[in-house]
Amino acid sequence: MVPEVPGRRPGLFVIDLDDTMIGMVTLDRRDAERPGHVRPDAGEAELGYMLLPEAWGRGYAAEACAAALDWFPDALPGEPVVLCTRTANDRAMRLATKLGFTEVERFEEYGAEQWFGVWRPLTPSR
Ligand SMILES: CC(C)(COP(=O)(O)OP(=O)(O)OC[C@H]1O[C@@H](n2cnc3c(N)ncnc32)[C@H](O)[C@@H]1OP(=O)(O)O)[C@@H](O)C(=O)NCCC(=O)NCCS
Repeated sequence: MVPEVPGRRPGLFVIDLDDTMIGMVTLDRRDAERPGHVRPDAGEAELGYMLLPEAWGRGYAAEACAAALDWFPDALPGEPVVLCTRTANDRAMRLATKLGFTEVERFEEYGAEQWFGVWRPLTPSR
């Protein structure tokens, strides 16, 4: 979905394998109305990831997300990144942990238990 104000989306990446798009990594602003926040003013950068099922299980999502998180602190210094996934989504949960996200809270949304975590850049903002 294209946001109303394109400039406000922190990042959108296509995962390319041998000139074919196999997935996307997104960084959107988390809606203040939704549960799960680490900043009082909400609007955190939220990481999203999705790969074509035939590309799962080869570490491509992990590689792409790590690259996006590597890029992020220079683009938006000092900002945390949040992530929300259903706890039942084993693959997404394993990936979140591998990327260094830590649990903030769990809550019910869309009729399922959600895991909400945060990742903070190593270099603190000045
Ligand atoms: C979530 C999603 C991106 C995870 O994809 P994934 O391929 O499992 O994730 P990774 O890139 O971390 O790959 C991990 C797997 O690759 C394997 N792997 C194989 N070769 C590898 C390598 N060279 N390096 C790293 N991992 C490798 C790992 O062992 C692991 O396998 P396992 O899951 O059997 O333990 C994918 O399942 C997806 O697109 N789901 C639908 C969308 C979705 O649910 N998004 C999240 C909503 S918040």
